[in-house]
Amino acid sequence: MSQQQAYAQPPAPRPFELDVEKLRDLERQNKLPVFTTFQDHADGDFTVIVAGKGVYLWDAEGNQYLDGCSGIGNVGLGYDQTEIADAVHAQMKTLPFHLGGWNFSTPPSIELAAKLTQHAPDGLNRVIFVSGGSEANETVIKVSRLYFRLRGFEKKTTAIALDRSYHGATYGAASLTGLPHMHEHFEPMLSKVRHIPTPYRYRCEQCGTQPACTLACADMLEKVILEEGPETVAFFIAEPVLGGGGGIPLPPEYFQRIRAICDKYDVLMVSDEVITGFGRTGKMFAIEHAGVTPDMISTAKGINSGYLPLGAVLLHEKIYDTFLQAPEGTDFSHGYTNSGHPVCCAVGLKTLEIIQPLEIALRAKQRACRVTGLCQSEEALLLYVLSCMQGVAPFIKAECVFEGDRVEVLAEERNFSLFHKEQSTITLMIHTACRDDLYLALELSKNPFWVLQRVEDQV
Ligand SMILES: Cc1ncc(COP(=O)(O)O)c(C=O)c1O
Repeated sequence: MSQQQAYAQPPAPRPFELDVEKLRDLERQNKLPVFTTFQDHADGDFTVIVAGKGVYLWDAEGNQYLDGCSGIGNVGLGYDQTEIADAVHAQMKTLPFHLGGWNFSTPPSIELAAKLTQHAPDGLNRVIFVSGGSEANETVIKVSRLYFRLRGFEKKTTAIALDRSYHGATYGAASLTGLPHMHEHFEPMLSKVRHIPTPYRYRCEQCGTQPACTLACADMLEKVILEEGPETVAFFIAEPVLGGGGGIPLPPEYFQRIRAICDKYDVLMVSDEVITGFGRTGKMFAIEHAGVTPDMISTAKGINSGYLPLGAVLLHEKIYDTFLQAPEGTDFSHGYTNSGHPVCCAVGLKTLEIIQPLEIALRAKQRACRVTGLCQSEEALLLYVLSCMQGVAPFIKAECVFEGDRVEVLAEERNFSLFHKEQSTITLMIHTACRDDLYLALELSKNPFWVLQRVEDQV
């Protein structure tokens, strides 16, 4: 059966014999809630997800959802990759764990590193494995410190990031993150981080009223480097498409100017591709759309379609060369128990095999372009929202304001009509991001590669 046929006929959910109320009670009694309020967790009737297949999920009460979020931007290949399950089983039986550091290694981590450097932009030919996106960005901080210290620039420790960025929840990564709620209650954060405005034409305070973008926001990087003193600035980090900040794609020209500024002041440029990596924007890494090579790429999620925890940092050879010339006895005192975990890496290898050579991502992108024209009914409007908001399908966002149970989509084309939140018996599952007084951005941005196909089939 072709993939298309498989998802045109979603499987009936199997009857669940779970006592959902008991599960909810146990959750309330035993787990500390994260990324939700304590009160909501204590009182709320949260959804207990019990099964997934393709782009669909089922909760413990048998309700079906179209997963518009790919889990949380990670399950790009959907929920039923038996080849991945088989790869896990095979590796578990052969070697369930051994170290990827301390002078040990394992075949899956060696092979995955080789595959990653093969697919990375030229020059990014070293890999450090970690367990997720936050750890990847912690690693970025420490790599940059070691790199400049070895070159005699101990003072180069300041990081510059965007004010709507999300880089993770661990202390260093949360400090890089620009979203205020990630700092509230935990301050003081790392002091050596500055945030500059996110390039977002729709809400731009620099040149929003002018006919075209002037890239003034990129020039802010230079301004802040000069304010801080170039001798103190280590790296600039940005997501090519902001995720938690509201699905905002940054223009290619932005990164071209950023690259030039970083080169001018000997500042490392880091592309956080935790959600944009591995084909989500139609190229292996989203920064490739800009035609510039960053000095580091942090990545996770799509690296193994979220089936097991895995992340990686790809480093430019200039960083490795500096490390190699370090004084005798220098080591990189960094790494985690699960860095290069063989089972997680085996899943990464299988994932790369499945998405190679990105045919899936490219198909999804073309499909999104096709459905853009279908906006004739309320249901089709949803498609339109899914497909055309900011053009980097399948990575799409819409800004919305709520009016009762209806949602108004705000975009540059403001003549969108309203659509109902729940269109049919299958609920579209979306996450919300970037809450502020003005708006709430719906993260339609992270749909699995096949969601668009499924929605298109329904129209
Ligand atoms: C761009 C970006 N960086 C870093 C992270 C943190 O990744 P993790 O949750 O795996 O630690 C995320 C998580 O969503 C992310 O979107």
